[in-house]
Amino acid sequence: CLRRVDTFLHRGIGTKVVAAQTEAAVKHDSVEKNDGRKSLYAVQAERQEQAERSVLISCYSRIKHNMFLKYLSRHGDIKKHFFYENNGVYAVVEFARQESVASLLEGASIPRVSQESVVPFKSRLLSLRNLDSGESSNRPSSQRAQPQTAPTINDVMQRLSKQESIDQQITQLTEAYQLTEENISLRYLVCSLLKDVAAGYFPECTIKPFGSSVNGFGKLGCDLDMFLDLDGISGQNMKMPTPGLCLEYQLKMGNSERATTQNILSVIGECVEHFAPGCVGLHKILNARCPLVRFAHQPSGFQCDLTANNRVAMKSTELLYLYGELDPRVRLLVFTVRCWARTHGVTSSIPGAWITNFSLTVMVLFFLQKRSPPIIPTLDELRDLAGPADKSVIEGNDCTFVSDFGNIPLHGNTATPGQLLREFFDFYASFPFNKMSICIRKGTEQNKPEVAPLHIQNPFETSLNVSKNVNAAQLQRFTALCQESAWLSCQSQTMMPKSKSEGSNLQHWGLAALLQPSRVAGVKRRKQRAVGRISESLQSVIESLKSGIQQ
Ligand code: GTP
Ligand code: MG
Repeated sequence: CLRRVDTFLHRGIGTKVVAAQTEAAVKHDSVEKNDGRKSLYAVQAERQEQAERSVLISCYSRIKHNMFLKYLSRHGDIKKHFFYENNGVYAVVEFARQESVASLLEGASIPRVSQESVVPFKSRLLSLRNLDSGESSNRPSSQRAQPQTAPTINDVMQRLSKQESIDQQITQLTEAYQLTEENISLRYLVCSLLKDVAAGYFPECTIKPFGSSVNGFGKLGCDLDMFLDLDGISGQNMKMPTPGLCLEYQLKMGNSERATTQNILSVIGECVEHFAPGCVGLHKILNARCPLVRFAHQPSGFQCDLTANNRVAMKSTELLYLYGELDPRVRLLVFTVRCWARTHGVTSSIPGAWITNFSLTVMVLFFLQKRSPPIIPTLDELRDLAGPADKSVIEGNDCTFVSDFGNIPLHGNTATPGQLLREFFDFYASFPFNKMSICIRKGTEQNKPEVAPLHIQNPFETSLNVSKNVNAAQLQRFTALCQESAWLSCQSQTMMPKSKSEGSNLQHWGLAALLQPSRVAGVKRRKQRAVGRISESLQSVIESLKSGIQQ
């Protein structure tokens, strides 16, 4: 029995964390240790707990807020709430106590639907009907429902051109695009609602957000990457088998770790598709390197990717979060470069031969490590600073790095964000991509181990290239755009703030000028996009045929 338990837990669910690190230990590494900054684990634990006490309510648009809140507070004190707009008005309400949610669900009625049969699945997504006449709104202006989408690039460029320095523009751009407090709460709430579905099979599981939703580099509208975490119930922290009863597992699922992950996701995916309110358009993408189910969560407007057994991605998220917390210039530069890349079509929302946001972020980190003196440490330096509680080995890969921010020495580089942006373009305009690989573990370029046009070493699975998908044409476009932006950054005409008196139309200068359509890559880009899209469509047809054959 024990052998089977072990096989299921370590092969089936798939984590081979030989680590001494437990979440409790990392949570304990708390605020004081990190100079007032919280570790990602501490943030996640706090946010998850808040999400458990929250409900999502679809409201009618002219709802009287005071009346609504008074009505809800019959179930207990409300700690926080906000309204947002997404094809209708929704409210996120966080109660002070968990019992209030149970009381609210107890009191909610089940809709009568005469035509269709109803799936009796009670969730924390509710809708409000007939609370008041809705004839007039007494909504205080401070509580207006906020959209959860990013401003348009034209809006942002207008705002940038009104600033007085490039550094101000960079800050303004980051503020315009970064996830808001409300949007982050909504992301944790969607994970928590999904957890309720998965809990039908695994009552003690959690679903955690990872990637840009939580790493500090998320832009409004970015996807919601989720990780079904079964480790809490895996018994992996169990020291010795104890005498007496132990659970019997039946291994019907598959004889490889990957097959088990695929099966778990397939079953949870079915459940999400059929029973989870608000989840639509589910696709199982189980043959990908990292199997996932993708769907849209309509009430929040999030595109969701649910994965399981994806501990390394969680570690990458933690690492990116740590780098972002170490120095404010990291986030400023990553946001700016991501926005620049998106505007010029270097990155895309369609998967293909484009550079991904993740690869681009690693390129920014590498560039910052290469400054003199370095702005951020290498991953090897972070590993050497790690304490025993930080040790983490996942599937044979050393993922250890220090979690205590206070222990990380910085070197006093005082370059401004504007200077760094210019240097970034210079750096990659002449980077020897043909011979060298980008490696944030060592912080120096390494000889390329394979022929891929762009080689960026995966920080934790060091034999892998995170930019394997990028083709020569896309890399060439990136380099050409860096050269053009480096050249523009030296033109005092372009970089000097334009006074409003110079014309009735606001002239784009500085960062706004760098975001304007490129002259060097425009024509080529349109052609390549068209070709890229056709080959992408063919690729996905082939993939779906292949998966059809395999299933
Ligand atoms: P956006 O969704 O584009 O805003 O950025 P993201 O950082 O969330 O990227 P994405 O959704 O593609 O991936 C989610 C997370 O998975 C990333 O933040 C990484 O932690 C991880 N990840 C993505 N691609 C790779 C990869 O090629 N290699 C590794 N090791 N991790 C990856
Ligand atoms: Mg993402």
